[in-house]
Amino acid sequence: MGETFVPYLDTESVKKCILYDSNTGNTRAMAEAIFDGAKESGAEVSISKVTEADIDAALACDVLYLGCPAMGVEMVGDGQTDFMAEVRMRFQGKKVAIFGSCAHGEGIWLRGWSSKLKAYGATVVNWPGLMCKGHPDKESLERCRALGADEFL
Ligand SMILES: Cc1cc2nc3c(=O)[nH]c(=O)nc-3n(C[C@H](O)[C@H](O)[C@H](O)COP(=O)(O)O)c2cc1C
Repeated sequence: MGETFVPYLDTESVKKCILYDSNTGNTRAMAEAIFDGAKESGAEVSISKVTEADIDAALACDVLYLGCPAMGVEMVGDGQTDFMAEVRMRFQGKKVAIFGSCAHGEGIWLRGWSSKLKAYGATVVNWPGLMCKGHPDKESLERCRALGADEFL
């Protein structure tokens, strides 16, 4: 009797979680395009406002996407700042991608955020972050979709 060959099938899909903050919908539009890209690539993906996050589920994901518009003088807003403070001890080894919209900024809030995440032990997979001006145009949405589709292996 010959041995039965049972092929190994990797059916585990990559788990992704998108947590965003947005006042007027621009960063939310980026988050939704990331969601679409992730879905199209076959990932298991969830999306929510960071203030409504299921923190344990978010930190159990393979890739965490965090979005926030430029606030203050190119600073990260309260929602993401509070989230960072709450989970700062749990970022070690996490893959994190960051994104956000601004009016006229140069990405200072994203660079500062990247550095903070790195200091907390995370790997910022799209260093120093994906930025767009105002509402994302077609090209920006395409970049967001590609970011969502990337597995960062
Ligand atoms: C209180 C406040 C502070 C802001 N500070 C900045 C800033 O420092 N630099 C900048 O480029 N845009 C700044 N903006 C503009 C927003 O970042 C921009 O309109 C962004 O597209 C809003 O994204 P959202 O629709 O996701 O909220 C600020 C907006 C508000 C309401």
